[in-house]
Formats: sequence, structure tokens, C-alpha cells
Amino acid sequence: MNRISPLLQPITIAGTPLKNRVFMAPMTRMRANGAECPTLLTARYYAQRATAGLIVTEATQVCAQGKGYFGTPGIYTDVQEAAWGRVVKAVHEAGGRIAMQLWHVGRISHSLNQPDGAQPVAPSAVATRRAKVSVFKDGRIQEVLCEPPRELLGDEVTVIVSQYATAAKRAKRAGFDFIEIHAANGYLINQFLSTNTNLRADRYGGSIENRARLLHEIVDAVSLVVGADKVGVRISPNGVFNDISDSEAEQMAYFLGHSLDAKEVAYLHVAEPDWAGGAALTMSVRRRLRETFKGCLVFCGNFDQKSAEELLIQNVADAMAFGRLYIANPDLVARFLSAAELNVADPLTYYFGNGNGYTDYPTIG
Ligand SMILES: Cc1cc2nc3c(=O)[nH]c(=O)nc-3n(C[C@H](O)[C@H](O)[C@H](O)COP(=O)(O)O)c2cc1C
Repeated sequence: MNRISPLLQPITIAGTPLKNRVFMAPMTRMRANGAECPTLLTARYYAQRATAGLIVTEATQVCAQGKGYFGTPGIYTDVQEAAWGRVVKAVHEAGGRIAMQLWHVGRISHSLNQPDGAQPVAPSAVATRRAKVSVFKDGRIQEVLCEPPRELLGDEVTVIVSQYATAAKRAKRAGFDFIEIHAANGYLINQFLSTNTNLRADRYGGSIENRARLLHEIVDAVSLVVGADKVGVRISPNGVFNDISDSEAEQMAYFLGHSLDAKEVAYLHVAEPDWAGGAALTMSVRRRLRETFKGCLVFCGNFDQKSAEELLIQNVADAMAFGRLYIANPDLVARFLSAAELNVADPLTYYFGNGNGYTDYPTIG
């Protein structure tokens, strides 16, 4: 007896119809070229996964200062915009929809990845304890500790907001269906949100409202460009990745659920903490988030088909995102449909390299 999985039901997000509720989670693969552009291989990789209801791209820096790792792409030059246009075209021709995840790494960087060897920036001059990034040094790619950042000055914060808007303009021209603002996983916006990384005494620090100000300004600026109905936001409540330790993580998440609901953004994407060493979100936290945000709510992190369906059946989530399963199973939707066995992703090919572990995972077709 075959029953159609709730994951495979269509959904309309803020007016945009999607063919199912299986999202591909954003995943950095560090295969951009020297101009920080996605390549033809990148286009193939995403097009192979076009049966997802929505693909979210790897995090993409909005400016040179927003770069933390060697090999990640940007969306702040004409060449990058054109290269992303080719990726979008390939996904659209394969019948898919795609969101671009916009990124500024803040303190998760190193002068070797900064323009003119500059010091990385952050809300406050708080160094990470053990976060690492990849750099190209002594003729090879290596992992190094992040360098201590300097505090952003008031005007610089305003510049970053405008860089998000400009990046959104470019992404819109490249044809993206949605923009996802990366406010998760310990990068710049998350550093503003979190109590251990934001010690500012100005209007961007202190209260929950002040710490959320940068995210709100970016959401507003990007919404002016593409419309709030095309904007998603990714948060990671209780996340500890990149040395985040937020004493008000849950209060902030509920506050953002309400505020982003009021701004009528297209979706709220919750990256659960347990894939990177944190404690799993409890069902009661998920339910409270559901109460705060009435739009499309998406969860991601260590879910399989059954546990993901459970969140849909219980009306806690509207869609579910899958990361590592999507690395290894380009046809994840078809596999869910037929309860086929799943390929297992090889962590050794997550980052860097060529098509090996990127575009060569087999499909069942
Ligand atoms: C190789 C890799 C790269 C990732 N890169 C990003 C990223 O660029 N942006 C982001 O928000 N999350 C990123 N994540 C986190 C995933 O989106 C997702 O939250 C995590 O893998 C847990 O989901 P899963 O258990 O379905 O894999 C990455 C995860 C992996 C494994």
C-alpha cells in the first residue's frame, strides 16, 4: 500500500508554488574558481538536484570582506553575477527553483582571505577560541585558526547593510527565486545576535532588540530590492558552531519568529544545532517557534524521511531541508517516493576538489 509522503506534497510559499517540501540545505563545497565564481561543474551539481522543492545555494559572500574560507563564491562582481546566472539557468531548465544564501563571515576569517590582508571584522573584538578556516598558504590549502577581529565602527555596519542590498540586486538579476539571509552558524549576523560575541554599547548591542537590529536592517534592505515574499532567513538557535555561546538563544529565536512574521518574509529556516556538536532542539522549542512564525517554517539537521515527515504531520514544520543526504543523493525526492536505499556522503569530498564526491553520486533512474 503506497501512501504519498507529506514531504512530497506541493506547497506555495508567499505566492510561489513549489512542487514538494523537500529542500536542499545550503552547503559550502569550496569549489569556486579564483574569481570566486561558481563553475560549470557547480551548475551541473545544482541542476542534478533540481527535483528538490527548493535548492538553497552554498553561502555566498556579499563583499570581499565577507569571505572567510578559501574557495567560496561571491556575488559582488559582474563576473560572479554572470556565473551565478548560468547556475540559475541550469536549475530552471531542469525544472527546479533556487535561493541564494547571502553571507558575511565576520570574525570567522583570516587576513589571508581578506582584501589587502586586512584584519577580520566583527561586532566586537572578541576572538574565537578554536574556530578554523581554510587558507591557501605555502602552495597548498590548509586549515588555520581564525585571527582575532576588530570591532566594526557604526558607519561600517551601514555599508554592510547596503552590500547585502547590492548583492540581492545582483542575485535578482541572475534569476534567483529567493534570497536566504544567513543569520546562523556563528557568522557575522549570528555574531550580532549572540551575547558572547556582541559586547557593543551602541544601538546594535545590549538588548535583544538591539542585537537583532543588523538582521532587521538587512531583511528590510533586501526586501526593498526583491520583496519580502522572496526573502528567507536562516537562524540556528542554541547553535554552538564557531564558538557561539548565547545565553539568550531561545528568547532571541522567539523574538525573531515574531518580528520576521510581522515583516512577512517568505520563510524561516531553522538550522538545528546537533549536526555541529550542539544539543538537539526539543519539540517544545520547535512548537514555540511555530507559534511565533506563521509563514513557511523549515527545519534542518539530522533528519531522515521518517523524522522529517513527523514534523510535517504534527504541523510544526511546513517544509524540511536536508544537507548531507543531498550531497550523496541528487535524486533524494525520487528515493523518498520509492523508499529506495540512500547513498552515504563521503566527508573527505565535502570540500574542494573536482566532480569526485560532487557530481558523481549515482541516481536510481
Ligand atoms: C559540507 C557542509 C557545508 C555546509 N555549509 C553550510 C552553508 O554554507 N550554510 C549554512 O547555512 N549551513 C551549512 N551547512 C549546514 C547544513 O545546511 C545543515 O544545517 C547541516 O548539514 C545539518 O543537516 P543534515 O543533517 O541534513 O546534513 C553545511 C553542512 C555541511 C555538511
